[in-house]
Amino acid sequence: MLHAILASSSDKSFWMPQRASSYAGGVDWLFYFIFWLSVFFFFLILGLLVLFIWKYRHRKGHQAQPSPSHSTALELTWTIIPTILVIIIFYFGFRSYLTMAVPPPNAYEIIVTGKMWAWEFAYPNGHVDNVLHVPVDTPVRLVLTSQDVIHSLYVPAFRVKRDAVPGRYNKMWFKATQMGEFDLFCAEYCGQKHSEMITKVVVHDSTEFRKWLEEASNWEVRMTPLQAGAGFYVRRGCNQCHSVDGSQIIGPSFKDLYGVSRVFADGGTAVADENYIRESIREPQKHIVAGYDSSMPSFSEKQLKERDVMALIIYLKSLSSHYKGDLSLTATRPAAQPATQPANQ
Ligand code: CUA
Repeated sequence: MLHAILASSSDKSFWMPQRASSYAGGVDWLFYFIFWLSVFFFFLILGLLVLFIWKYRHRKGHQAQPSPSHSTALELTWTIIPTILVIIIFYFGFRSYLTMAVPPPNAYEIIVTGKMWAWEFAYPNGHVDNVLHVPVDTPVRLVLTSQDVIHSLYVPAFRVKRDAVPGRYNKMWFKATQMGEFDLFCAEYCGQKHSEMITKVVVHDSTEFRKWLEEASNWEVRMTPLQAGAGFYVRRGCNQCHSVDGSQIIGPSFKDLYGVSRVFADGGTAVADENYIRESIREPQKHIVAGYDSSMPSFSEKQLKERDVMALIIYLKSLSSHYKGDLSLTATRPAAQPATQPANQ
């Protein structure tokens, strides 16, 4: 009955998360096998201990008997039975390991980059997102790397975890069997905000997934450049180093940055206009502002398209009191505009 509570036939038990991938069942089976085996031997050994303490306790008139120094039958029993159990555990563990280690050749590939302190998921069409979207019942292969320190991608509901290591690519794969949203954590201590390196896996049905990818990679039809710029600020991790409220994190705050005169470490100056912001994104090492270090990564055309840079510039303008233009028209998209373009256009 206890087993029924701990591993109920439903997908969620009170101490295990939902089972939402193809090999979650096998992982749980092995976990419970080892768990109940340990429980069995724990009580067996404890029971015998208590029994022998009682049976061979000191009594008046009882003389202690000499105990046998060797028993072949006993030796064989406690060698053969544990060996068989260990072989069973190894067999099922190694079988599950091999299944997890070898992705099927037709898997859908997503490139994952861990960085302090966010995840980036790059899709085959170039779209980059901070949330992992995958189609249901489809093998998905993740190719993981890191931009800085070691991170570890962990999805409890899928029973998968793999390190993201700088300078190399690790692979993992899974097949989500349930639609919905699941937690995705970083499972390797990676600095101050490690505990905030949390996101979601969204599992779609395959038609919906294609629709999502189409729309997500095509922001012009859904939002204004200002909205898109605010989105990139978070999704591409600018917010890790640049605040929007004037507070200093690692890099200069974006508040009131646009239009201001910048003094560089080498003594040069420039006004923070469109060209300056674009250069700071594309070639941040070219001019380092005095008082800051050169830790800003560069964003190539592949990582951030020209229109995305433009959206970020508009976002920076909206944060600056030095920008005198009118951004009210770009703040919201007119409701009359269709959300997506007609398919037969
Ligand atoms: Cu990344 Cu912890």
